Amino acid sequence: MKVILFGATGMIGQGVLKACLADDGVAEILAIGRTPLGESHAKLKELMHNDFSDFSSIEPRLSGYDACYFCLGVSSAGMSEEKYRQITYGFAMAAAQALSKLNPNMTFIYISGMGADSTEKGSVMWARVRGKLENDLLKLPFKAYVFRPGGVEPMDGIQPKNKWLKALLKVMGPFIPLLKRLFPDYITSTRQIGKGMLEVTRHGSDQKIFECKDINGL
Ligand SMILES: NC(=O)c1ccc[n+]([C@@H]2O[C@H](COP(=O)([O-])OP(=O)(O)OC[C@H]3O[C@@H](n4cnc5c(N)ncnc54)[C@H](OP(=O)(O)O)[C@@H]3O)[C@@H](O)[C@H]2O)c1
Repeated sequence: MKVILFGATGMIGQGVLKACLADDGVAEILAIGRTPLGESHAKLKELMHNDFSDFSSIEPRLSGYDACYFCLGVSSAGMSEEKYRQITYGFAMAAAQALSKLNPNMTFIYISGMGADSTEKGSVMWARVRGKLENDLLKLPFKAYVFRPGGVEPMDGIQPKNKWLKALLKVMGPFIPLLKRLFPDYITSTRQIGKGMLEVTRHGSDQKIFECKDINGL
């Protein structure tokens, strides 16, 4: 299986990368990003790209893949709706449209977030943008799925990139086992997301949107 990974430098993307590297069924991972990963592995290829709203210049490199795991994303905190939409909707749709044209049998899994608004009409800006994106991704002519994690525990030595999340996890770290027991349906982990993506790619699913508890059940 050949996999394309977006967001491999991020917290969740690192977990997905580790899962792919450890999986004997994954022969190649092409990490597409703007920042070098700083690691090498026989199965890992990197492709630096600057404009995530346009993939036409690298299209020849994007065909022949079985799966794409889209873990690139930003928090809406402090961002205008226009800017958040441009990155969140614009980047994911540009990648998905190019990939669905080149790889119609591909499994594409998008990392969204718990609370995304499928009606596209709610009052919460980030949730509306993600909901519209999810709906449009699921209409594309390939096997698209959406993962909606809530809290994500970084595992296997992974550190959050976001400094606020890093500080929060430093304080909350000792309580994570308790929080997982109290709120099992709201917390997943980088390891579980990576495992779940490979599971859905291998076996497919009639379910298209996976909430946190569904991810934990994979
Ligand atoms: N972490 C959580 O608890 C959590 C929970 C629910 C949902 N999510 C969602 O899951 C996704 C990944 O989260 P994360 O925690 O892994 O985020 P993260 O650690 O901040 O990583 C974000 C990734 O996206 C890339 N990226 C961000 N802005 C970019 C841009 N303008 N151009 C190109 N690449 C860009 C980053 O690349 P660089 O290294 O080049 O910056 C990095 O690889 C996000 O959509 C997030 O909202 C996260």
